[in-house]
Amino acid sequence: MRTTSRLDIANQAVWEHFEIVNEQPFRLQYHLMPPTNWMNDPNGLIYFNGEYHVFYQHDPYGTIQGPMYWGHLSSPDLIKWQHRPIALAPDTDYDASCFSGSAVINNDKLTLIYTSHDEQRTPKEMQCVATSEDGVYFEKDAANPVLRQPPEGAGFDFRDPKVWEYGDHWYMVIGNCRDGCGQALLYRSNDLRHWQEVGVSLVSDEYCGHMWECPDIYPLDSHFVLAFSPIDSPISRNTLAVGNLDYETGRFDPIFYQEADYGEDFYAMQSMETPDGRRIMIAWMEKWRDEYVTASEGWVGAMTIMREVSLENDHVMVRPVREIAELRQKQPVSGKYYVEPETRGHLKNVHGSSLEIVIELRFNDARCQQGGLRLRTSGDSSQETLVYYDRQRHAVVCDRSRSGLGSTVETFAPAEPDQNQIISLQIFIDHSSIEVFVNNGKAVITNRIYPDPDSTGYELYAVGGSMEVPTFTAWALHSIWPEPAN
Ligand code: FRU
Repeated sequence: MRTTSRLDIANQAVWEHFEIVNEQPFRLQYHLMPPTNWMNDPNGLIYFNGEYHVFYQHDPYGTIQGPMYWGHLSSPDLIKWQHRPIALAPDTDYDASCFSGSAVINNDKLTLIYTSHDEQRTPKEMQCVATSEDGVYFEKDAANPVLRQPPEGAGFDFRDPKVWEYGDHWYMVIGNCRDGCGQALLYRSNDLRHWQEVGVSLVSDEYCGHMWECPDIYPLDSHFVLAFSPIDSPISRNTLAVGNLDYETGRFDPIFYQEADYGEDFYAMQSMETPDGRRIMIAWMEKWRDEYVTASEGWVGAMTIMREVSLENDHVMVRPVREIAELRQKQPVSGKYYVEPETRGHLKNVHGSSLEIVIELRFNDARCQQGGLRLRTSGDSSQETLVYYDRQRHAVVCDRSRSGLGSTVETFAPAEPDQNQIISLQIFIDHSSIEVFVNNGKAVITNRIYPDPDSTGYELYAVGGSMEVPTFTAWALHSIWPEPAN
């Protein structure tokens, strides 16, 4: 049986060092993150009783992943956020760890469906339910575990249920594997307690990973998206399959595939529908690594900014959620620039570690090979992150080789200039992150960067020939967190 004490102790523990942790230079100003200690996947996105709720995989006791709890954040408007009490603890005999899952509203109750995980048990992963009347305090269901094993012959990796309602039924997609290939399974239920397998939605080929984590299925325009995070795929880390779903057989027929994000620090995306019918999604702004830079600050893991997805001309467009414009502070810096090769000093009045930049780069000079921005530069320019368009590679590149601590892996997204030779970028910089939206949402690159706190400069640059910047605007952004009480 559930005891509340495990939750109570965790809720105290996670705030113990908050004041110190929250002063650390890599803490983020407008991204979701835990008060202290570890987080990974976002879970249970839902709008309930007038508020958005985002839960997350959380270890309140340390900066590596231990037994998983569900942390909880809520917001009235996707702009201001607050931490709520931890929602789930691994406190029953059936869950040694509360792994990822999702949320729905059933009979006016906020209902979480998650995976109970126990390495010592066979099978090691089962699906469970917890409910709440107020959206804050949850009770695990007497019927748990409600789905005790994967189909015959399938692997025991059987996790991350994403549930939605369609017609008279609940549907649930679960990540699984069989014979070394990742797959997504579809289930159906009338009451969220009794589940029937409908069928296999989609199976990996040799390129798409041996296990699929965090699958998500949602309608988009006249099609469906099946999103998942494959383990060990050589070609994709966050896949969006766009196609059609047959609710009778469970089969998903893909028409095309797309990468949800081209950066290194994006994983385990999950989506929800807003009350006004938009599809929004968020992901873990990290990846599984041996070491995390912010562990020394007493916290690890954050989420990307919320993104809106839409299907336009056979392409999934991914844009910053429109509400984020409310975070812009008054009096942006804006200008137009003509950048000769190897010149500096265009953006002397732009500074900061928490900014949004909207910029157009125009390449009319055939000699220009690449051009873009140096971000978070140090006074002597020994530290900088480059975001530029490489005309030979037809790609927007994020170069972190001199970004400070952390990964130096180069990441890039394919991109073509428009008919006016313009590449447009919308860039979000927070203290230890950068998200680059390319050509109005055609591609995104999300990375963590760890420059010195006083590396706050910005520059334009061009190589080989000149580049025009017909549009440049930079806003400092407000914090999403409540002011500390004095
Ligand atoms: C993805 C994942 C999920 C699992 C969770 C555990 O990052 O491995 O498959 O439910 O993290 O924290």
